[in-house]
Amino acid sequence: MPAPWWQTAVVYQIYPRSFLDTNGDGVGDLEGIRSKLDYLTWLGVDAIWLSPFYTSPMADFGYDVADYCNVDPLFGTLDDFDQLVADAHGRGIRVIVDWVPNHTSDQHPWFVESRSSRDNPKRDWYVWRDGPADTPPNNWIANFTGESAWTWDAATSAWYLHLFLPEQPDLNWNNPEVIAAMHDTLRFWLDRGVDGFRMDVVHAIGKGTDLADMPPDLNRLEQTLFHDYPRTHDLLRDIRRVLDSYTGDRMAVGEVYILSTARVAEYYGAGDELNLAFNFPPLHAPWDAAAWGRRIERVVQELDPRGAWPTWVLSNHDVVRHRTRYGSEARARAAAVLLLTLRGTPFLYAGEELGLEDAVIPADRVVDPGGRDGCRAPIPWNSDDSHGWPTTETWLPFPPDPAHRSVAALTDEPSSILHLYRRLLAARHDSPALQSGNFALLNGPDSVIAFERSAGDDRRVIVVNFAAAQVAVPLGELTVEVSSDGAGEGAAYSGVVPASGAVILR
Ligand code: NOJ
Ligand code: CA
Repeated sequence: MPAPWWQTAVVYQIYPRSFLDTNGDGVGDLEGIRSKLDYLTWLGVDAIWLSPFYTSPMADFGYDVADYCNVDPLFGTLDDFDQLVADAHGRGIRVIVDWVPNHTSDQHPWFVESRSSRDNPKRDWYVWRDGPADTPPNNWIANFTGESAWTWDAATSAWYLHLFLPEQPDLNWNNPEVIAAMHDTLRFWLDRGVDGFRMDVVHAIGKGTDLADMPPDLNRLEQTLFHDYPRTHDLLRDIRRVLDSYTGDRMAVGEVYILSTARVAEYYGAGDELNLAFNFPPLHAPWDAAAWGRRIERVVQELDPRGAWPTWVLSNHDVVRHRTRYGSEARARAAAVLLLTLRGTPFLYAGEELGLEDAVIPADRVVDPGGRDGCRAPIPWNSDDSHGWPTTETWLPFPPDPAHRSVAALTDEPSSILHLYRRLLAARHDSPALQSGNFALLNGPDSVIAFERSAGDDRRVIVVNFAAAQVAVPLGELTVEVSSDGAGEGAAYSGVVPASGAVILR
């Protein structure tokens, strides 16, 4: 049996606002994405994941959905979406869309109805609790605000729950009508040909009915560990059945923001829940061999035995870019070798192939309530004043050094990080060992992570040196296939890996 596409694919995340604007309003749009499909083909990605482009008042930049079945005019139209899918599929690129099941916008007609009166038929579609008005029903804390996860609705004298902003009320997945309506939103996009969904905070949908207090004094990150409900697993099995009722291997990758690999593993079920779950602990790993080694071992221990396929990610629209976190391009390059050779599905975040750093956002241009603007800055396409955007008035400023960090400039530079990503993707495509082979850690010096990937006679050895000095890692007679600094490719391996460097050997 060949591996399903979502195991061998390299997925490229696009934050639509920031990819490319085509109508001059300074905000990226679907047509901008479509116009750059040739670039994505040249780079070699297999699938794109689009962050939300649905109708939204944008309190959380689209993660507050007011209509699950339409495109916000800011991004274009449903026709634009259909054209994008058709053109992507024409190039063999799969399309994954975001799905936000935990909460809607407070402007969603469902919530407008729900809050209109206590006896509205949609009242129970959200999580309401009675007063007193001065004491929230429990001690849960909302993301972004750090304040209570409950907002008092004076008109109907009741509290509603929101794990995120007050503008993002949580849906009540204990109500069968909500389940049916949300399944319909999946079918809407499945019917339009999408290949899968990235499911936003999906672990939190199955809240118990008692909504008990958390242990006292937990911070927001610690509280995430408690949003892990048995009922979510039943809901995920139903969701999986909706996906599996379609032909063509539709998939679900879940944002399971629980920083415990063992508990995230549960969300794969017995192969009947999520196809993939994001593996976030590495996002919080410093550039350190031991820290990365522990996280890799945990994945091997917790996921492999249950046949759960891992995922790897270094950057996304919620965290500081890894180029910035790790502090140098050499490290970002070595990290890319690791990301694209570990066993599992890698997720790239648009712009990491350019070695982009987070943008510096002046105080008067901060727009995100969660403080994540820096990693969401526009992609520079060329060295012009507006970097390929139709206006210099972009919704956020460009990242540092945009002229040099642009797609056009780095394409012209064979030694650039962009060409490294392209060679890494090509090396993966050519190698069953890298795509789906076995994984075995090798012994090496403390500053090194070394491992072997193998499938039949196809074999690769990968060495990543986290130290700021070169290190000897003798491994016998091998040839350098890809090196993070581009040196020595095609030549015999010298047995030495440069400072903050990485190699794929064969
Ligand atoms: C996780 C998303 O990645 C983030 O951007 C969003 O703000 C929250 N979920 C709430 O939907
Ligand atoms: Ca636009």
